[in-house]
Order: sequence, then C-alpha cells, then structure tokens
Amino acid sequence: MAKFAFLIHPLTLEDVWRPIPEARNKRPEVIRQFLLWMDPFETAYISFKTKAGVQLEGWFISVPMLPEDFITNEQLAIEKVLKAANLAKELGAEVLGLGAYTSVIGNSAQKLGDKIPLPITSGASYTVAASLEVTYRVFNQLGVPLKELSAAVVGATGAIGRVTSFLLSKDVKRLCLIARNLSRLEYVRGEILSWLKNRGIEAPVIEISTDLKLLSTCDLTIAATSSTGNLIKPEILPPGSVVCDVSLPGDVSQEVKRNRKDVLVIEGGLIKLPEIPKLVSKYSDSWEKLMGYPEGVVLACMAETMLMAAEGIHENYSIGRNISPEKVERMKKLAEKHGMEVYGVPDRDKLIPEDFLKVFKTLKRGISN
Ligand SMILES: NC(=O)c1ccc[n+]([C@@H]2O[C@H](COP(=O)([O-])OP(=O)(O)OC[C@H]3O[C@@H](n4cnc5c(N)ncnc54)[C@H](OP(=O)(O)O)[C@@H]3O)[C@@H](O)[C@H]2O)c1
Repeated sequence: MAKFAFLIHPLTLEDVWRPIPEARNKRPEVIRQFLLWMDPFETAYISFKTKAGVQLEGWFISVPMLPEDFITNEQLAIEKVLKAANLAKELGAEVLGLGAYTSVIGNSAQKLGDKIPLPITSGASYTVAASLEVTYRVFNQLGVPLKELSAAVVGATGAIGRVTSFLLSKDVKRLCLIARNLSRLEYVRGEILSWLKNRGIEAPVIEISTDLKLLSTCDLTIAATSSTGNLIKPEILPPGSVVCDVSLPGDVSQEVKRNRKDVLVIEGGLIKLPEIPKLVSKYSDSWEKLMGYPEGVVLACMAETMLMAAEGIHENYSIGRNISPEKVERMKKLAEKHGMEVYGVPDRDKLIPEDFLKVFKTLKRGISN
C-alpha cells in the first residue's frame, strides 16, 4: 500500500460553507478569524487502485486559512503548514503534497523543505502537463494550428508559469511573458531562448511586460499567478480568445465568465482518477461537497502527489520556481501508466459553448469538421 497526504485550504468562504452550511449564518470576519485560530485537521481519507495495480491511500489535511491570510500572515501560515506536515507523518504518509497557497509561501516552499519530515511537492509539474494538454486539445478542436497563435503566460516567472512558457515557446508564433518584476521576466526570456537554441528549435517572438493590457493582442492566455484573484478583467481580453486559468483562486474575474460569452475560459489542471475512490470523512460523504469537483476528479497537484507515492518517489519533486520541462514530461508518462486522465477535455457540445463558437467562426479561419 502506497501512502500520501495532501494539504488543502479554503480558497473562498464558499469552500467553508459547502461542507458546513450552518456557517452561512456567521459573519465573514468571524469565520475568517475562527479559521486563523484553528489547528490543521484531517478532512478526508481516500483509497483506490491505479491502472498499474498499485493500491493507494491518502489523507487530505486542512490548513484553515484563506488565501489573503497566507500572504499577509506568512509566519502563521508556515507554522500551520509544519503542524499539518507532522500530522501527515503521524498518519503514515510517505509523501506530502502542498496544495494551493501552502506551496506558494516560504519562497515557493523552498524555505520549508528542510523542516518538513516528508518528501514534498507542489504538484506543479503535472499541473503544467495537464493544463497544456487541455489547452492544446481545445485549439485542435477549433482547428487552429498553435504555430499561428499569439500566446501569453501571466505569472511567467513563477513555478508553473516559467516551465509552461518553456514548453509553449516551441509551439507558438509569438509568446508574451507577463508578471510584475521586469528583470526576472528578462531572465526567464534568456533562459527560454538558450533552451530552444540548445535543442535546435526556432524561437518565437518573445515579448515581456508587466502590463496585462498585452493580453488584448493574444489568442491564448495561460494564467498562473499567486494573486488572490480577479486579476484578468473583461476589458483586456479580445473576442474569440481562450484563457486557461490554472490559478487557485482563479485569476479570471467572475465578470469575464458572466459577460464575455465570446471568450472561452477553461480550468487547467483537473484530473480524473482511474476509479472512483473509497471516501471516508466525518464532514461529508459527498466527494463534490468536500473537494468541489465531480466524483473521482482531483486537482493535478493532488494527482502528482499520488503518482509520487505510487512510484515510490521519496524525494522532493516540484519545489521552487526552476522546474524542468523533463519533470513535466516524466509526470505525464507516469499519469498514463497509472490511468490518470485530464478532465474537462473538450467535447464540442460541452466544453466549447455555441456562443463562443459563433464568435470564433466569424473571427478565425476555420474550425475542424
Ligand atoms: N490547478 C492546480 O492543480 C494547481 C497546482 C499548483 C498551484 N496552483 C496555483 O497556480 C498558481 C501559481 O502557482 P505557482 O506555484 O506557480 O506560484 P509562484 O511560483 O509563486 O508564481 C506566481 C507568479 O505570479 C506572478 N504574480 C503574482 N502576482 C501577480 C500579479 N498581481 N500580476 C502579475 N503577476 C503576478 C509572480 O511573479 P511576480 O511576483 O514577479 O509578479 C510569479 O510569476 C497559484 O494560484 C497556485 O495556487 C494550481
């Protein structure tokens, strides 16, 4: 039996209300303060068998804090993450995944590594593989070759954004790298250019900017920032463009989803497990209520932790911002071996809505079949 643990935390108050509906009666500030006082606790246990026949079991441990508190109260966040890691070890986990903001703090978990008593990962490698796969399938279905696209990565200097930019750079016509720090962006651009040169791959046009307005010139945006949400507003996205939002909480504002039917927003990094796991939790017996996704669907960062346990990878994996494209490729192969699949793969009737297709057809050259 391979054993893992994964740290989760509420991304919004909705994540608190879903499993505990009575909490809706309390004022948001009260809930927020209450979360800060609470210690980490075991939320759920799951077990299932992978396609390669490995029996996996794991614990989801909640670190009770909202995203903005991870940023403004990093010391408390680090203390809670260390407590949660010790709990994971006591429960018998061999590998620990750091979900959402638990991997962003401590300089992308690098400062935490030595103090955590287990091998850790942020799950960024498989998140990148899964997000690119779903994005490429969308454009394949739309019938537009990637080589004709202008793409942007928002958060291009981060753990997910940097390696996403490397991998996208070999496939698109123009690549815009966006974040807040220009010198770091310049550095990443240099890294990408030498990576492509060493492989004999022709480089696309690579632009760097701290201004999100550049998105108005891009067919595709991949968003992976550590901002606390609502960064990408409706007015900066061009009609017929596709946005893959990998960030948790999402970077794309709710107004885009509500009012811009001519923009397709897809959620990156969702994975369907090879079978529906057995779930035990004292909070709910509903997977959807606990996880916020359909039964058997998990985030790619959770799936990466499971894959590490299944393969006996007992060393830190996706930690820090310099994740290599090889690590991403390795996770992709392990996922195939163990029967994990990207969820939300476009199906003309479902994932690509008619409203978007209409706009897309009038703007672009052609759509397959
Ligand atoms: N879907 C999944 O399974 C999954 C898995 C892991 C992580 N995530 C999520 O993915 C996101 C990125 O994670 P990460 O580990 O790559 O984080 P990270 O290493 O901290 O990188 C964050 C990036 O965002 C940029 N950034 C932050 N605020 C910004 C703003 N206001 N405007 C523009 N750029 C901004 C940062 O650069 P500057 O500081 O220079 O601006 C950096 O490039 C997080 O939201 C995380 O929760 C999702």
